[in-house]
Amino acid sequence: MKTEKIIILDFGSQYTQLIARKVRECGVYAEIYPFTISQEKLIELNPKGIILSGGPSSVYAEGAPIPSFDVFSLGFPVLGICYGLQLLAYTKGGSVDKAAHREFGRAELVIDSGDDIFEGVSSPTSVWMSHGDHLTSPPAGFETIGHSGNTDFCAVSSADRKIIGIQFHPEVHHTIEGKIILNNFVRKVCGCTEQWNAHSFIETMIKTIQEKVGDDSVLLALSGGVDSTVAAVLLHQALGDRLHCVHIDNGLMRTTESDTIYKLFKESFKIPIEVIDGTELFLGRLAGVEDPEKKRKIIGTAFIDLFEEYAKNLNGVKWLAQGTLYPDVIESVSVKGPSVVIKSHHNVGGLPDKMNLKILEPFRELFKDEVRAVGRELGVPEWFVARHPFPGPGLAIRILGAVSKDRLGLLRKADDIYLEEIRNAGLYDEIWQAFAVLLPINSVGVMGDERTYENVCALRAVTSTDGMTADWYQMPYEVLASMSNRIINEVRGINRVVYDITSKPPGTIEWE
Ligand code: XMP
Repeated sequence: MKTEKIIILDFGSQYTQLIARKVRECGVYAEIYPFTISQEKLIELNPKGIILSGGPSSVYAEGAPIPSFDVFSLGFPVLGICYGLQLLAYTKGGSVDKAAHREFGRAELVIDSGDDIFEGVSSPTSVWMSHGDHLTSPPAGFETIGHSGNTDFCAVSSADRKIIGIQFHPEVHHTIEGKIILNNFVRKVCGCTEQWNAHSFIETMIKTIQEKVGDDSVLLALSGGVDSTVAAVLLHQALGDRLHCVHIDNGLMRTTESDTIYKLFKESFKIPIEVIDGTELFLGRLAGVEDPEKKRKIIGTAFIDLFEEYAKNLNGVKWLAQGTLYPDVIESVSVKGPSVVIKSHHNVGGLPDKMNLKILEPFRELFKDEVRAVGRELGVPEWFVARHPFPGPGLAIRILGAVSKDRLGLLRKADDIYLEEIRNAGLYDEIWQAFAVLLPINSVGVMGDERTYENVCALRAVTSTDGMTADWYQMPYEVLASMSNRIINEVRGINRVVYDITSKPPGTIEWE
């Protein structure tokens, strides 16, 4: 895509993705790269400006993340945030020291020079600090443009105002005027003029898809989630009937889910869709399997087998479209994390190689909330766009132990009630993801005068921005009470309800 872009170099900050989001909210496209990027690659990317993230290291620490070239001398405007400022001092000859008072949390920034990045910002203004080391003298030729009670050199700038370093984090919510500062950097300092938004993204992406695909046809596996659905609507605009949408009902969906998707496509979008009923195949292969990873692998393979079978009858299909998002492909030191496999995520992985298909991923540069914005712009209804994520392996990873039709039935009923109660309480949009889980244990209860020995259902609700980390949601007691009451009264076979109070990490969002 021909778009003005800001490159964010990641030095391991927990806020790196947030910087990218905030810059995009300013209407300017931003991408994250690890600090290990080569000088040639960075120049080839031709950014309008560069932002250096914070990071947990000291520039003097052994193995500190330091680029192999002088990023400040390439002629691009640079904004160094926290560690980025210390790197500026380290590279350009200032000095950095351990702060006598480490600063974590709110601080008041006094602006000494209100031009460029501080234009329109009040003085003092509340900013968010999170650092041990700090600058004790700026590099020669640099001017101090802001200070705080604890930090004399809280913001420094080169004489030409193109290289700026700030000790605080403009990307976090607690820096009240952070958005103005970032906007000033990308617009005034870097000179970005384009407006990058859902509308412009759609326009450019339709052209890109048409150029890439030519006269070929594209197969799209519709999971029924937001990403693949929005991708389908976009691809249909670009390719018309050269798009083949297939939804596999794996028998692991929630109540009426496959029906809803079918109707949405047929009636609202008027996009042809084929539904393959794979219930017997999936449930047959899953019978008696308890191990979470085995379940995931079986489901992934069954998807591929059904698709292969289906695609035999399609001529001219050369591409497989997927709703992959930016957080899945992002290359950054902070996001990559350890390389151990926690869970084998599946979206038709393995299929392209087997079938000799090329991959089309129109959203590989977008965050989830941006895909939602694209969906709204394309006319996908709000109730659908705002839906919580639902994992590819479906309810199979929410039934601990072996999956069976009976247990699926129990979980569907409990999950329906749970989500209905959340909606009735007006909490659905506040929660990032909520679902019920069926545990592999029975517990004793008493109903009427009878002893019961039945299933336990766990309720999970989390808040998150991207699913990478999550907090358990503090569900109001009265809502919990009515959920528990209804599930136990209305779902025969469940006699106990528990609420999950585990955040991620250390837990994961799904139980398997
Ligand atoms: P975890 O459980 O890893 O989940 O904390 C993070 C997010 O990913 C979803 N999830 C999946 N999505 N295929 C998917 O498309 C999968 O195999 C899969 N496993 C987990 C999960 O629902 C949560 O939103």
